[in-house]
Amino acid sequence: MTAAVLSFTAPAFAQYQTTAYRASILHFVADPAVSQTPYEYYEDGVLVVGTDGKVKAVGPANTVLNNYPYIQVVDYSGKILMPGFIDSHVHYPQTEMIASFGEQLLEWLNTYTFPTEQQFSNKTYAKGVAKTFINELVRNGTTTALVFGTVSPNSVDALFEEAQTRNMRLIAGKVMMDRNAPDYLLDTPASSYTDSKALIQKWHKNGRALYAVTPRFAPTSTPEQLTKAGQLLQEFPDVYMHTHLSENKGEIAWVQSLFPSSTGYLDVYNSFGLSRNRSVYAHGVHLRDDEFQSLAQTGSAIAFCPTSNMFLGSGLFNLQKAEQYGVKVGLGTDVGAGTSFNAFQTMNEAYKMTQLRKAFVDDPDTVNPLKAVKAYYLATLGAARALSLENQVGSFKIGNEADFVVINPNATDLLKFRMQKTTTIEDKLFVLQMLGDDRAIQNTYVMGKKQTVNGYGSGYYQYTYN
Ligand code: GUN
Ligand code: FE
Repeated sequence: MTAAVLSFTAPAFAQYQTTAYRASILHFVADPAVSQTPYEYYEDGVLVVGTDGKVKAVGPANTVLNNYPYIQVVDYSGKILMPGFIDSHVHYPQTEMIASFGEQLLEWLNTYTFPTEQQFSNKTYAKGVAKTFINELVRNGTTTALVFGTVSPNSVDALFEEAQTRNMRLIAGKVMMDRNAPDYLLDTPASSYTDSKALIQKWHKNGRALYAVTPRFAPTSTPEQLTKAGQLLQEFPDVYMHTHLSENKGEIAWVQSLFPSSTGYLDVYNSFGLSRNRSVYAHGVHLRDDEFQSLAQTGSAIAFCPTSNMFLGSGLFNLQKAEQYGVKVGLGTDVGAGTSFNAFQTMNEAYKMTQLRKAFVDDPDTVNPLKAVKAYYLATLGAARALSLENQVGSFKIGNEADFVVINPNATDLLKFRMQKTTTIEDKLFVLQMLGDDRAIQNTYVMGKKQTVNGYGSGYYQYTYN
């Protein structure tokens, strides 16, 4: 086989033909909490992607290339190729208010978030931020996200339209919010139902788009509105439900006062029929044991958002408890309360959170520092499972959509210096988790198509009102 000649034309035509990507390839097949062999790693590996953008084969380079003797080979030797990262909870309208100083959750919402979100009734404005947001996902190797819009349906149209230009698998929804926020951001039970339904009919399963019914959190919805959210889930059983749960102690007390007959925060959502597979609750920092158990029983998932929990001073999520009860967990950035779009940085703070927990629990010996393999699982296959998307994305299972990231483990001088002292792939992953950022993301592919990042400095990025 004349691989050198064949690979000469590969990059230009890669998207039009079956292509092999040669690199150190890693993907997860199980949760490290329950399996001794949770991942497959091929130091000299090949991923074969078909013309339909799906995974055809993955394995050791020699074996796979023997089966595809005439295939175009894109050579990423020395790089690590993994499934694209999945962000299980993020607010795209908050991109422009990331890093806002000083407040904890409820004051932060009033001071920064609500005024920012007001602007998204303007579709042109929303498009500009959506473009920036999706550029940030791509720059950071994130290929799927579960995304909050704002109350305005325009915000959701803008995001899905931008995602479609890249054929990205994105889940998003319009916020439902009919009390305890400024008038200019409120809908009503009836309008939130009608608007959400129209968006479901327009976007759910339109290409790779999926819709999430999105009540912001219990304090900003009346019982009437939560009833409407439950009705939408009955009418459209395969859409998502996306909200916040037990993030902040003041918030939890407020929920109890607004819903005095409930037995707790999760019970409010349960009582409106909002907990089932494809229900994703951001945070769950202060859950009781019976609430973890209830989440497991209903098939609901938690989005664990360490940079946000640290930034807002919300608390230290108990990942081990979620494992113990068998609750699905995915990693989330929660930008703009989260401080980075980057999965390495998010995993970095997840690790530090498990270390910090030791300082706050009665029996520190029972707390295990988060292992790198678990962190990367939470950012890929774990998140895909939390989103019931494991048969589409999150691993290189044959037939899955080929969303992947090419990581340069030597992207910075310090990474290069430190990598010399690593021996195993798990060491390398941990070093990347601590020292990596968007500089280590060499390329991001969506359904086998290499993405470019654009928009910065262009007219698109300078928001102008028409
Ligand atoms: N709870 C209700 N709304 C929000 C939000 O926008 N961000 C976070 N982190 N928590 C919330
Ligand atoms: Fe959030």
